[in-house]
Amino acid sequence: MENMPYRVELELQTFQASIGEVTRSAEVTSTDWQDRLPVLSGAQVTLRELRASDAASLFALLTTEEVTRFISPPPTTVEGFVKFIAWTIRQRTAGTFACFAVTLKGYDTAVGIFQMREMEPGFGTGEWGFVIGSPFWGTGVFQEAAELVLEFAFETVGVHRLEARSAVRNGRGNGALRKLGAVQEGLLRKSFLRNGEYLDQVLYAIVDDDWRFSREMARPIHASRVH
Ligand SMILES: CC(C)(COP(=O)(O)OP(=O)(O)OC[C@H]1O[C@@H](n2cnc3c(N)ncnc32)[C@H](O)[C@@H]1OP(=O)(O)O)[C@@H](O)C(=O)NCCC(=O)NCCS
Repeated sequence: MENMPYRVELELQTFQASIGEVTRSAEVTSTDWQDRLPVLSGAQVTLRELRASDAASLFALLTTEEVTRFISPPPTTVEGFVKFIAWTIRQRTAGTFACFAVTLKGYDTAVGIFQMREMEPGFGTGEWGFVIGSPFWGTGVFQEAAELVLEFAFETVGVHRLEARSAVRNGRGNGALRKLGAVQEGLLRKSFLRNGEYLDQVLYAIVDDDWRFSREMARPIHASRVH
């Protein structure tokens, strides 16, 4: 999240994208997501493409001090979020970026976002970041949403390696990544400028083979025996 490429000051265009009807993830092939993000559905959460109308709830939930302490400053106005959302749609159309709104099952209000960007042409390597409104921390919303996004990354987009950077001091961010199986690969010293201070970051990665293996291990035994 810290190094995601959107910059408020570069954003000048207004929201124009049209979002069509719901598409189930199972029906999506590897290139369809560039036309429209699938809806990712779990027991507790539904992830879908952002809409301009999400700007107000995202502004209210994602701009508090405790949420933004270790991430790049989000837009500072509702209009700024509208522009950010328009930018995410354009980047998705270009095939270099995907950003999901996290909503609670049965409600359409966006309570967080997951972003993923291409780090090499073809999206073999990607970087992801996430932010959830603090009233929903520790509720399982993050875990379920993250698992859906990982499946999207590895199965739909075809990512082989998904990186994440988290400030060393970001206890929740590090805990969240570790419990998903992200492996700490390095320490990036003084790599992230926040509030006038250069912070050290941990570099994490999840690779497709490890993700598939752990998913297979998590399946009930009878399920993996069925051919
Ligand atoms: C990162 C974020 C999305 C995670 O969502 P969340 O609901 O807080 O995550 P969870 O509670 O499911 O998981 C966090 C884990 O870290 C653990 N944790 C919390 N504080 C910790 C600390 N100081 N040190 C180590 N682990 C810690 C929690 O116990 C939890 O593990 P558990 O489920 O095994 O108990 C959310 O905290 C957030 O939006 N933070 C602000 C933005 C941000 O930092 N984004 C990440 C950038 S890498």
